[in-house]
Amino acid sequence: MEFSIKNTNPEKLAADCIIVGVFEGSKLTDAAKMLDAASNKAIVNVLKSGDMEGKLGASLVLHGLAGIAAARVMLIGLGKQAEFSEKNYRQAVRAAVKALPKGVTTAGFLINEITIEQSDTQSKVAQLAEVVLDTTYQINAIKQKKAQPTSLVKITIVADKTEHAAAEAGLKHGLAIGAGVNLAKDLGNLPPNICTPTYLGKQAKELAKTYDFKVEVLDRKEIEKLGMGSFLGVAQGSVEPPRFIVLQHLKGKKGEKPIVLVGKGITFDTGGISLKPGGDMDEMKYDMCGAASVLGTFKAIGELDLAINVVGLIATCENMPDAGAIKPGDILTSMSGLTIEVLNTDAEGRLILCDALTYAERFEPSAVVDIATLTGACVIALGHHPSGLFSNKDALAHELLAAGEAAHDRAWHLPLWEEFQTQLDSNFADMANIGGRAGGSITAACFLSRFAKKYDWAHLDIAGTAWKSGKEKGGTGRPVPLLTTFLVNRAAKAK
Ligand code: BES
Ligand code: MN
Ligand code: ZN
Repeated sequence: MEFSIKNTNPEKLAADCIIVGVFEGSKLTDAAKMLDAASNKAIVNVLKSGDMEGKLGASLVLHGLAGIAAARVMLIGLGKQAEFSEKNYRQAVRAAVKALPKGVTTAGFLINEITIEQSDTQSKVAQLAEVVLDTTYQINAIKQKKAQPTSLVKITIVADKTEHAAAEAGLKHGLAIGAGVNLAKDLGNLPPNICTPTYLGKQAKELAKTYDFKVEVLDRKEIEKLGMGSFLGVAQGSVEPPRFIVLQHLKGKKGEKPIVLVGKGITFDTGGISLKPGGDMDEMKYDMCGAASVLGTFKAIGELDLAINVVGLIATCENMPDAGAIKPGDILTSMSGLTIEVLNTDAEGRLILCDALTYAERFEPSAVVDIATLTGACVIALGHHPSGLFSNKDALAHELLAAGEAAHDRAWHLPLWEEFQTQLDSNFADMANIGGRAGGSITAACFLSRFAKKYDWAHLDIAGTAWKSGKEKGGTGRPVPLLTTFLVNRAAKAK
């Protein structure tokens, strides 16, 4: 899909369909007023008929209006003007894209110039591009008959000359995030027999080639040499070989301490010997979405050529119940030297992440953020709207929360209190890998915190946000927007 910014009068914009906003109470936006004037009141007359009131997300397509260059004009409802926000704006863009008639290949947007309190041109254009890409995303389904690609190929965004630079900057950001989200969705949606640890390693190498990242993909032998006994414990239950991926985007100042992103890359989670129930087990192919969000975020910062140092670490393997698999009661020795009694082999995410967190120490990071589909308990606690956020440093937590708000990819701060730590006590090792049902996502975070003592660290539990179930089953690409925005903000601060 091709996007461009243009400064033109709405009535002169040539496209199969132009999209213009109407507030509730049939109140025209400035662009709608201009189209109305050019078309001899065609818009006001339609609104008078009562076919369209301006309710948020409602739409009406008008054909062949005299005096207007575009073949169609879509009126898109914006809701109450006093309540108009970025959130409502995004919802209107989403609804408009979904309502575009099949024959439309070129579309023009005239809604990014509408005033939104606490927003600006750059943000509005970025959101528009991102939402258009999100809405038009198609699963690359493996079917005998390939799906038709979306007919939409060209998008024009109208912006005033004085706003051109801001609009271009916004477009660049929105497209970068959209590309990162699409990659994360693609990887999540692939079947687990294709998206294996080996496959993720190849994807990292390909990204590195495209964007000039440094990359290493370590195999089992090399992981053994590092002493990652906890990670290897999980990997030993599968015939698929594990991989440890190290990606580096080094475009910051020389000597600038990097931010390290750590992704959980379980390409399939059966639960291991503590086998999961069969219902919906297919969805455990999404247990690598933390890893996918690291790769997606690298794509986005690669696209932006962001002036910052970022390291991506991915521990990836399958969690399978092979004859050689770890059993409840087994004790593993992690890379840090701390020993772990495995009471449940289904709590495997923390077992692979803890060694990646220890590995992160060598980069002397300014911050480490791990991203993981870690606990079902997080879905019970927070549902599917926010990701769970934990941190050993309040300032870092607030930075990530703010990035999530700005990116419309929100997280919610949960407690990492000392009181929960005793739930991980073991009589046989330094700690157990589970802490009981109470506060399950908190004790999981507590477990990770023991391996993240040497730096500022945050943990995002994305079990509820990384994919959707039901009719809309598929990866969401979250939290690529949050992570990219966090890095963009850090890069701006370093300037
Ligand atoms: N990958 C799962 C977490 C998960 C479950 C994500 C459901 C999304 C939906 C993780 O490895 C897991 O199995 N966690 C266990 C932990 C328990 C054994 C302490 C869980 O949440 O049940
Ligand atoms: Mn599990
Ligand atoms: Zn898992």
